[in-house]
Amino acid sequence: MDLNLKDQVVMVAAASKGMGYATALECAREGAIVSMASRDKEAIEAAAEKIRQETGAKVKAYSFDASDAQSIARWAEDTLTELGPVKGLLVNAGGPPTGQFDSFDDADWQSAFELTLLSSVRMIRAVLPSMRASGGGSIVAITSSSVKEPIDILILSNVMRSGVTALVKSLSQQLGSENIRLNTLIPGKIDTDRLRGTNTAQAQKKGISLDEHNAQMAAQLPMRRFGDAEEVGKACAFLLSDAASYITGVSLAVDGGLIKTVW
Ligand SMILES: NC(=O)c1ccc[n+]([C@@H]2O[C@H](COP(=O)([O-])OP(=O)(O)OC[C@H]3O[C@@H](n4cnc5c(N)ncnc54)[C@H](OP(=O)(O)O)[C@@H]3O)[C@@H](O)[C@H]2O)c1
Repeated sequence: MDLNLKDQVVMVAAASKGMGYATALECAREGAIVSMASRDKEAIEAAAEKIRQETGAKVKAYSFDASDAQSIARWAEDTLTELGPVKGLLVNAGGPPTGQFDSFDDADWQSAFELTLLSSVRMIRAVLPSMRASGGGSIVAITSSSVKEPIDILILSNVMRSGVTALVKSLSQQLGSENIRLNTLIPGKIDTDRLRGTNTAQAQKKGISLDEHNAQMAAQLPMRRFGDAEEVGKACAFLLSDAASYITGVSLAVDGGLIKTVW
């Protein structure tokens, strides 16, 4: 299937590794012009170079902090100036810290709001004028299975990502007539540094080793394994592309069957 991403400018947030990187790579493989960003300038430059080497695509690295309004605006402006009208955006950032309700004060909630929900508002706002002017676009926000089944030690994620889901669904209703599609991608247990971090916290809580915890967790999954970031990257590239031209307002789970709810 041709995703029809050739020469389309796609912005991918939090892309130096993990699912953001995998999405940037997949879009580049499909011929997109990729604007990828994360906080660590060296890491994002190295990631962009790796993708350029593998694909030969036009890929540019930017440093930005998803918690910071100005740096989001600057990333979008620089992309527009240097690469052209934006047709795709992957909304993504690092996850909020692990912990239960009693471990967080107002400042923690405020930080999680800025990192996860307000960053999504700001990234979407930053690309809309370009998408409107060029006749449409596609936005995908990475959330979590916690929006369907809350995760014990991820109270901040459970709450903020539900907000992102509501934001995306609301905007899909409002922007469909302008040919702007918005969807969320729900990752299950994807083998990245983030999962290793949250699993370490859970293993410590249970008093077992990380390997033991991983084995127990994988055994509970219908597919008996964690997902690979590339499996998410391919799904994101699809949703960002014209191949998904009539798909908007959905939450696509890439979770190997983890979520047990019918709806
Ligand atoms: N892996 C899973 O199983 C899973 C499941 C559900 C949800 N999620 C969520 O999905 C998102 C991506 O996860 P992942 O597994 O791909 O993580 P990852 O492999 O740890 O990568 C995180 C990426 O985010 C960037 N980043 C972190 N904080 C940032 C910030 N404030 N501003 C801009 N970039 C930032 C990091 O680069 P820099 O350090 O250079 O900024 C890195 O490129 C996270 O929010 C995570 O919580 C993951």
